Amino acid sequence: MLTFLLLLSLVFGVLFVLYVYIQFQKSFKLWSSQGVPTIPPSFPSGHLDSRMAYMNFGLMAIDLYKKLKSKGDYVGLYFLNKPVLFVLTPEFAKTVLVRDFSYFVNRGVYFNKEDDPLSANLFFIEDSDWRRLRIKMTPTFTSGKIKNMFFTIKDVADEMVKHLETKWQNKRANSEFNIEITDLMARYNTDVIVSCAFGTQCDSLSNSKSEFRAVGKKMLTFSRIRLLKLYAAMLFRRPARALGFRLLHNDVSEFIIAMCKKTIEERKAKHIERRDFMQLMIDLYREDNDDVNSDGEGLSLKDIAAQVFLFFFAGFETSSTAMTYALYELALNRVIQDKVRTEINDVLSRHGGKITYDSLMEMTYLDQVIYETMRMHPAVGTLHRIISKDYTLPNGAVAPKGTYVIIPAVAFHNDAELFPDPQRFDPDRFSDANKSTRHAFAYLPFGEGPRICLGVRFGMLQTKLGLAMLLKHFQFETCAKTQIPIKIDNVSLLLLPSSGVWLKANKM
Ligand code: HEM
Repeated sequence: MLTFLLLLSLVFGVLFVLYVYIQFQKSFKLWSSQGVPTIPPSFPSGHLDSRMAYMNFGLMAIDLYKKLKSKGDYVGLYFLNKPVLFVLTPEFAKTVLVRDFSYFVNRGVYFNKEDDPLSANLFFIEDSDWRRLRIKMTPTFTSGKIKNMFFTIKDVADEMVKHLETKWQNKRANSEFNIEITDLMARYNTDVIVSCAFGTQCDSLSNSKSEFRAVGKKMLTFSRIRLLKLYAAMLFRRPARALGFRLLHNDVSEFIIAMCKKTIEERKAKHIERRDFMQLMIDLYREDNDDVNSDGEGLSLKDIAAQVFLFFFAGFETSSTAMTYALYELALNRVIQDKVRTEINDVLSRHGGKITYDSLMEMTYLDQVIYETMRMHPAVGTLHRIISKDYTLPNGAVAPKGTYVIIPAVAFHNDAELFPDPQRFDPDRFSDANKSTRHAFAYLPFGEGPRICLGVRFGMLQTKLGLAMLLKHFQFETCAKTQIPIKIDNVSLLLLPSSGVWLKANKM
């Protein structure tokens, strides 16, 4: 009997594999049968790379791009048997991100509103839910509103400089002052986001045990297994939702929801109004929905918590990465560092020595330094979309609804045909004259089109102000502990340094 059952399961097993094999072979014909450039897939992975288990996705995208670039505007691939369109030119990136946006509204990334309410934020949500919320939130990010937050950010930047100066004064005489800048930048940006989003000070710069810093660290920390589960959830969104797969750690969600609830209730009780993100969210919340626990038409508590979480999640790691890499590149390129410091000092001397919003806006070479940093080291390596209705490609082939689209921004940024000598740090690439010589979509650190980063102005302001203050007071150089080149973290969704970045700082 046992032998019979074993035999039966073996037969079923073989039949099942055969069935899956036949189905996959059928799916694998999608691109080649329509004349879309492709390369032969393997069964069952398609073009999924086993290196996904131990390599950063952005770095894999660079490899793929180099291998496939000669194929044209795009190439058709498969992740398992799911179709993927891998974009190979800035011109086709423009088609996806802007020209034919109505087909490419969504990112197709995993979120789960029921089990993981904070994942239902503007970055992840789709279609009309996204449209409605984007319209509601856009006024929050106008230059006027961001300008109002200038002094809140400046207070944090002052604290950062004071914190470094104290450390510098306390160093042993004649010893080098070496600092780990990744953690310093993360603490600065945590304090900025917390003061602008919650209107409270969290002092993670001086308090090494800050709860917000701990949450920030945990938010984007993935084990290899969790990262693979996330990739799987992206490919099988419905089953993942049915199984209640969550993107976020439970305690992170609970902490953010509790902080939002506390802040809203406190402000209501004490009639406090501030010029920060939380106030702007509370205004939206008050408009339609006055009950903290309700889920009505306006923003509910969970909606607010999801957007505040997004500011934290989208704002602090990206800006910290830009600041870390900028200081690293300036430490390697001392002539450029001197040039940007001269600009900072010249502008400030014209403004009575004070950093104000207007004086900061005059520091255009500092902008170029930041743009060039984000060219070489964009925090977000690839942009993602999913086709929401069958789409006819320029050659007449049809990419079906559900096709994933990947735009390898980091590969464009490091392509010698788009940016000659790409390994050279050269902020002059971003002078007005030089910018106009290349395709506008060759450079995509904030994405593009209607789904472009909503926080561009805020991200640039916190990055620029922090850098201006640091460079005014300190000079940076490499030290024995500096890892050159910086290695990328393989277990991260962003292109982050794999370990601390050490630099020597000298007081100016
Ligand atoms: C240097 C800092 C930053 C970088 C490099 C960055 C980069 C990006 C990128 C590449 C995207 C995807 C765009 C696309 O798919 O086309 C994005 C989306 C987004 N970012 Fe940022 N970001 C930064 C700072 C911020 C900040 C500070 C906030 C908010 C306070 C923010 C909020 C958002 C939001 C809400 C989205 C989703 C927009 C939507 O889907 O409608 N970002 N960001």
